[in-house]
Amino acid sequence: MGNGLILGIESSCDETAAAVVERGARTLSSVVASQIATHARYGGVVPELASREHLRAIVPVVRAALAEAGVTLEDLDAIAVTSGPGLAGALLVGITYAKALAYAQGLPLVAVNHLEGHIHAVLLNLRATANDALDAPSLALVVSGGHTHLYLAEPVSGTWRYRLVGRTLDDAAGEAYDKVAKLLGLGYPGGPWIDALARFGNPHAVPFSFAQIKTKAHLGGKVPRTKAATTAPIAELDPHFLFSFSGIKTAVLRYVELHGMREAARARVPRMLAMGRTPATHEEALALCPQPVLDLIASFQHAVVGDLMKKTFAAAEALGAARILVTGGVAANRELRERFTAEAERRGLAIAFPTRALSTDNAAMIAAAAWPRFAAGEFAPASLTADPSLALGR
Ligand code: KG4
Ligand code: ZN
Repeated sequence: MGNGLILGIESSCDETAAAVVERGARTLSSVVASQIATHARYGGVVPELASREHLRAIVPVVRAALAEAGVTLEDLDAIAVTSGPGLAGALLVGITYAKALAYAQGLPLVAVNHLEGHIHAVLLNLRATANDALDAPSLALVVSGGHTHLYLAEPVSGTWRYRLVGRTLDDAAGEAYDKVAKLLGLGYPGGPWIDALARFGNPHAVPFSFAQIKTKAHLGGKVPRTKAATTAPIAELDPHFLFSFSGIKTAVLRYVELHGMREAARARVPRMLAMGRTPATHEEALALCPQPVLDLIASFQHAVVGDLMKKTFAAAEALGAARILVTGGVAANRELRERFTAEAERRGLAIAFPTRALSTDNAAMIAAAAWPRFAAGEFAPASLTADPSLALGR
């Protein structure tokens, strides 16, 4: 098995990333080229631009990851690549390049599900520190711009198995963050801005609420599709573990219109761009948003985090999970980390997050997820192609 060095490549959305990870536990390098500047002016990811930017970035990013790790292609044991879910054209850039590299070097290729990758962004740290405790099942909340999914994750004879236990019926939590931010003129992606501004608002100013999803009747037999179309038999899931974030987005929209907050929002993007970083003091926050807007932002975040918490802890308890893993872009959120950690402590449950850098899309998580698959000899066929709606678990 050589040194257990895997080069991971990730290009499913708007980050071109490459990383070298040793035995799924030690990150030797993790390089991420973000396309945020390209997509920001359109208020979201433009698929055609994403593919073009990946093509431009893939070679230098892989080269940088090898150089930073101090290794050459000859030192590698395998190449891992995200095969889905994500944007078809974007995924194909990474897959085609990974295949070519693997073929040229005579290395095995390992295909990784992007969601499995997010889960391994946490396991990567745990493997390095608390290896022995990883046998018991973990409840993983993957909460990003494309997903809000709950999985029961558990190692079975060396490889990881995942069971989908909950998910959103409509928008992902990160999508709600981004849409609310856009509405308030905070640009794209809005998560980090809402995170920074929420600190200066009153979280109880606007009482947003989430109704319990009671029946399955409203689905009308249809399988709902989220942006990344990870479909699953919703009817088989416990409705207590289902999420819905389109309602709060509409509630914020109504509040903004009712309180005439729309006009001022238009002027905010240029001011925000001029600031170049998220505000650090109340004065800086007030320079961007008046207090009622800060209160609205804080209330929105408080409600979203509360709903994520309620359902995640309920699922962990119902399924007897030994630990909670929270991962994906929204797991970078400060309030989310604080409140989840406090609640886990109160319940005597273990909890783990990725480092903030590994919360959002990266390739270290792809190389880490590939490690157990590589060790078990689960290699991708030469016919591997992009699967934009690849599902994880059943
Ligand atoms: O995992 P990720 O990089 O890409 C996807 O797979 O979607 O997640 C990106 C999402 C965006 O919606 C972004 O607004 C959100 O994660 N995000 C945050 C924070 N940082 C990124 N949301 C809340 N608080 C943050 N600090
Ligand atoms: Zn992601």
